[in-house]
Amino acid sequence: MDKFNFSNRRTIRKYSDKNIPYEKILEMLETASHASTTGNMQLYSVVITQDKEQKELLSPLHFNQPMIKGAPVVMTFCVDYNRFSKWCEYSDATPGYDNFHSFISAALDTVIIAQQFCSVAESEGLGICYIGTTTYNANGIIDLLNLPKLTVPLITITVGYPADIPQMSDRIDVNGFVHNEKYSDYDINNISKIYGYKEEMEENKHFIAENNKTTLAQVFTDIRYTKENNIHISKEFMNVLKRQGFINE
Ligand SMILES: Cc1cc2nc3c(=O)[nH]c(=O)nc-3n(C[C@H](O)[C@H](O)[C@H](O)COP(=O)(O)O)c2cc1C
Repeated sequence: MDKFNFSNRRTIRKYSDKNIPYEKILEMLETASHASTTGNMQLYSVVITQDKEQKELLSPLHFNQPMIKGAPVVMTFCVDYNRFSKWCEYSDATPGYDNFHSFISAALDTVIIAQQFCSVAESEGLGICYIGTTTYNANGIIDLLNLPKLTVPLITITVGYPADIPQMSDRIDVNGFVHNEKYSDYDINNISKIYGYKEEMEENKHFIAENNKTTLAQVFTDIRYTKENNIHISKEFMNVLKRQGFINE
């Protein structure tokens, strides 16, 4: 197999019928678990979904994004302070992890292992897609996956062998996000230098017209990631953190 070139990577949303054995997923997760983790506490759990009926139940919780039913494997990466707290309790130690700071620590661990898993899977010729709707409908996912207190579903990944290789996405220039020693704030000139090329891309021009907008930014603010939606999801997610014991008032 050719050496994986990270600069050529892309999200894969269509998968072939080829299955991935459970043992293979475990093997890749074992490799990924060597990633750094807060105090070596490994504050995460991963729920693996391969069963067709379970995927059908998961699908509407991700707004029926076709990758959920279309991928051989769906993985829900969950913040998990439950397992570690139980270890403390069974070891005559009093856990103090029912708070927001502990959620953040566990969220960092969870994101890091998720990305490490993606890199391992991609280097083995598999394709992945992150599914960010996990935090939109976390309550339903908690119920479906039986998640106890001090666990929260954070991010989902669909995995499979690529059925087609889509175009690579663009990225802003590295100088657009790097600051030398101190943050130098942006003005209209460097903002248009950094993002200007996006407005010129044919596919984005099409996207703007299709949505009856005049700029690409409006497609983000008015359609894809609206303030109203963000506020709604924030409120819901705060309730999830209360329900799961990370916020106590
Ligand atoms: C946190 C996160 C959430 C994402 N959620 C979704 C999603 O719900 N559906 C989807 O099709 N792609 C999702 N993606 C994939 C992005 O759309 C994709 O990474 C981005 O457009 C860049 O494309 P590339 O990965 O091919 O370079 C998500 C990516 C991240 C990092």
